[in-house]
Amino acid sequence: MTLHVRRVGADAAADVHAVVGAAFAARPVLDPPADALSETVSSVRADLGSHGGLLATLDGQPVGALLFGPRGDVMMLRRFGVVPAAQGHGVASALVDAAVGSTLGYRWLAVLAREELPATSAFWQRHGFQVVEAASPYLELRRELESSWEIADADGMRALGERLGRSTRAGDVVVLTGELGAGKTTLTQGIGRGLGVRGDVTSPTFVIARVHPSLVAGPDLVHVDAYRLGGIAELDDLDLDTSLEEAVTVVEWGAGLVEALTDHRLEVTISRAMADALGDQELDPRVVRVRRVSA
Ligand SMILES: Nc1ncnc2c1ncn2[C@@H]1O[C@H](COP(=O)(O)OP(=O)(O)O)[C@@H](O)[C@H]1O
Ligand SMILES: [Mg+2]
Repeated sequence: MTLHVRRVGADAAADVHAVVGAAFAARPVLDPPADALSETVSSVRADLGSHGGLLATLDGQPVGALLFGPRGDVMMLRRFGVVPAAQGHGVASALVDAAVGSTLGYRWLAVLAREELPATSAFWQRHGFQVVEAASPYLELRRELESSWEIADADGMRALGERLGRSTRAGDVVVLTGELGAGKTTLTQGIGRGLGVRGDVTSPTFVIARVHPSLVAGPDLVHVDAYRLGGIAELDDLDLDTSLEEAVTVVEWGAGLVEALTDHRLEVTISRAMADALGDQELDPRVVRVRRVSA
């Protein structure tokens, strides 16, 4: 059997709604009832449109789902469920792994579990979540996410970029900080791969900004080199062939410039891990820190 988890938007509303309905209907009757049961296709479509979600399929059949609900630096996992017929195939664990892999920059993953369902809380605890609050009938459980990585080489940098690309949504602005040669463009190559956009990502130094259109009906990538940009206001004047609200904008050297562009952004800093050491010349690891900032 082939298990696959993918990030989905509004167009997956019918599948996600069907999965959530089947999963929650199979649970014991609770008082008050689980509000997931009052979701409609259109309420799910609205949530998916704003924040996205995940859909798990087993041999092509939708079997598991969740909705993302960002709250500052906390990413809530909502409407998490697996249909009864697909229990025991690792679908729920695969959804958790995919959630971790597509929320880079958030500090926490969080879920609400019903206190009457201890098996549910036990599942989350096995996956690294801990109870942080009890507000009957709910328990809030959280898992702290990694926020920095040591990256051995350029391929590792692209792999991290790919995860970062999968963690971004239309309208996100990613600010890259690090000295010349730190790996900002290399990371952006991975972001482009994670987003599924056209064209090789190269240093945009001589063009200021380059648009890479999406090949997967997702957001375009706008790759900006702010080094020579007088101010980010000039970005509007460039008359790019895409709107920044519908694209993911990655700005090299953007710190101090892009803050005016958005009240929520991803700040990425790259530094040499062995700056002061006489390291092996072949090995030049970097430390990458990722942080989501909301005003
Ligand atoms: N651990 C590493 N991570 C990223 N790049 C690395 C690493 N080790 C060596 N490199 C090399 O460093 C260079 C980084 O260049 P680039 O991404 O253009 O930097 P920037 O855009 O920050 O100026 C590339 O030639 C890459 O192959
Ligand atoms: Mg560069």
